[in-house]
Amino acid sequence: MMTINVHSFFHSETGTASYLLADADTNQAAIIDSVLDFDVVSGKLAATIPDQQLQWLEDNNCQLIRILETHAHADHLSAAQYLKQHSSAQTLIGKGIISAQNNFKSTLIPIGDASDFDRLLEDEEIIPLGKSQIRVMSTPGHTDDSVCYLVDDNIFVGDTLFMPDGGTARCDFPGGSAAQLWESIAKIHALPSQTKIWVCHDYQPNGRAVKIQTTVAQSHKFNIHVNKEISKEAFISMRTARDATLALPTLIYPSLQVNLRAGKLPEKHQNGVRYISIPLVTKADPDVAK
Ligand SMILES: [Fe+2]
Repeated sequence: MMTINVHSFFHSETGTASYLLADADTNQAAIIDSVLDFDVVSGKLAATIPDQQLQWLEDNNCQLIRILETHAHADHLSAAQYLKQHSSAQTLIGKGIISAQNNFKSTLIPIGDASDFDRLLEDEEIIPLGKSQIRVMSTPGHTDDSVCYLVDDNIFVGDTLFMPDGGTARCDFPGGSAAQLWESIAKIHALPSQTKIWVCHDYQPNGRAVKIQTTVAQSHKFNIHVNKEISKEAFISMRTARDATLALPTLIYPSLQVNLRAGKLPEKHQNGVRYISIPLVTKADPDVAK
């Protein structure tokens, strides 16, 4: 019997879908891929979606016990710590986060370690949520810490897949691999055809309305990058060529500095203010000897 209820919240500024799962029998709840508002010019943070989710939990007498990430996102800031402060919930992410942290060790400060998260998840681990079970599926490719969460006939895929007309996410960040992404998507497409796929991002191709849910059958047949007609080799060459044209996401440095540490903001500076840092990549440094 299905016992899980899925509620989606869409953050239009970053095109991010955040999901609240509630176990109907016990009212225990989890949130997948939370999102803060962040204005990169002013540095202003706000919690519009997390506040809506906390209100929903209160209105429905539900208890938030898990805050799950599909990976350390590079395009929005996680609200995991905000939600944790307003609940007794644990923060969880795939154990690949250790590799992701290591990938950015030489460029970002602070970078964090395993202890920033309450628990790291193994491939195929089962996380109880009331009487429901959340199955962890390791799906590297977009990043090496990517996981999907399978609950009943729902799979929350993070950036492993987009809607069929959106294709797939880039694989050119450190730790990314188009070949691995292909294999990870094959695992998703091997699930029962009626399984509902819930994506983490929708960028509304061709200006259409926001869509965040498809099915395995629809994805396998119609995804513009990975449908049944496309070979692994063709996908890898398409993905690699396309990634070479993409600029870095606007929020990559703010996002990673926060998200690699489970949503923790950088420590306060001596003046009591928190700062995001951006590594400079330049040959015009006057300190560099000519
Ligand atoms: Fe991502």
